[in-house]
Amino acid sequence: MASATHTQSTTRVISPARTLRGSLMLPGDKSISHRYAMLAGFASGTSRLSNFSTGADPHSSLACMNALGAKVRRDERTIEVTGTGGHLHASHANLDCGNSGSTMRMLAGLVAAQHGTFTFVGDESLSRRPMERIRKPLEQMGARLTLTDGHAPMTVHGGPLTAIDFEAPIASAQVKTAVLFAGLQANGTTSFAETIRTRDHTEHALRAFGVELLRRDDRIYIAGGQKLKAIDATVPGDISSAAFFLCAALLFEDSNLVLDSLGLNPTRASLLDVITTLGGQIKVLEVREEHGEMIGTIQVNRSRSLKGADISGALSAQLIDELPVIAAIAPYTEEGVRIRDARELRVKESDRIALVVKNLRAMGAEVTEHDDGMDIPGNQQLHGGVIDSGSDHRIAMAFSIAALRASGDTEIHGAEAASISFPEFFDWLDELAVR
Ligand code: S3P
Repeated sequence: MASATHTQSTTRVISPARTLRGSLMLPGDKSISHRYAMLAGFASGTSRLSNFSTGADPHSSLACMNALGAKVRRDERTIEVTGTGGHLHASHANLDCGNSGSTMRMLAGLVAAQHGTFTFVGDESLSRRPMERIRKPLEQMGARLTLTDGHAPMTVHGGPLTAIDFEAPIASAQVKTAVLFAGLQANGTTSFAETIRTRDHTEHALRAFGVELLRRDDRIYIAGGQKLKAIDATVPGDISSAAFFLCAALLFEDSNLVLDSLGLNPTRASLLDVITTLGGQIKVLEVREEHGEMIGTIQVNRSRSLKGADISGALSAQLIDELPVIAAIAPYTEEGVRIRDARELRVKESDRIALVVKNLRAMGAEVTEHDDGMDIPGNQQLHGGVIDSGSDHRIAMAFSIAALRASGDTEIHGAEAASISFPEFFDWLDELAVR
């Protein structure tokens, strides 16, 4: 049975802006919040997680950890989690992951070594997303996964696991995390090799909780039977949420944006290179490291006319969450943007290639769709249009940014989806946009 959450559809009207100015401290990174929630719930002792993500997705992870026996207390943006000391309780109720693929895939790895059966459900979108990718390694280790046509509802029959050496067939940090979380509890040393280096928050988070890991070239090794100890941590600001305002700042010559305490992990920061290629100027005002994660303050302006970009290969995998907003501002560049090797976009919260193409056209843009990407010519003036978010948070936000330079107002249908990762988005956009 799919999760029963139904949210009322809301429409937001976005008017064109003259420029974008201001300074912000973004809510905690979604990816890091998920990992801290899960590992804190698995560790011994009480962890204190400040600036935890305000998005609905990481809160799905917290709710699942609570159902698995962890105690979760909330005090505004600080979350206290008292862990289970490595013994998760098989829950009779379904584990409701809402819209969150990260929750379902990563948590499957954590429960795979635990005694009992664990049934995961999600909303309509999550129930369409591929889960085979985690079944293969987890079954090789000794767990059994029952899927529904390759999707959720998904039941994990946990039990003692044996270490494996696994070669990632696709670039996926979620699959890597599922394998490392299972390997942490397996008999022997598990290794995971990835040819495209995906975000490494799991590696940093595991080390923060006291786990030893080794990386040699493109392979990570984790010995089973290690214990985790609670931590105090502050989650860095979410660079994928910042991406919307960074791209908005590119749209106006006299924009100025300062982002404080932003996550600058190099496996997530390729966006900053693209911003510079396109014509942005980024000053790093301060940088520090906490629990292996780089955090800093950056200032962004537009320094020249907007050029274009070609995004393919490993870069597409590293920018996977940012591609919708890069595509949404592409018509305003001089040379356009070409995206390839991004087939994974088709199996995100929506088919993000199809929806980006449809919504760009709704605003009057010319665009060519490819199986694994799209070509968006530059020098196009968009008009206001009616946008279908497809209940996908990143589509709702990406087209709100495109709307800032359009002629006329744009209606974003299904705008409430933004709250999956960034509930403050529309209020903050209103504050930053100068009209
Ligand atoms: C994530 C990994 C990526 C990304 C998702 C979050 C993570 O998914 O798109 O938003 O936190 O590990 P894949 O692992 O499917 O590439």
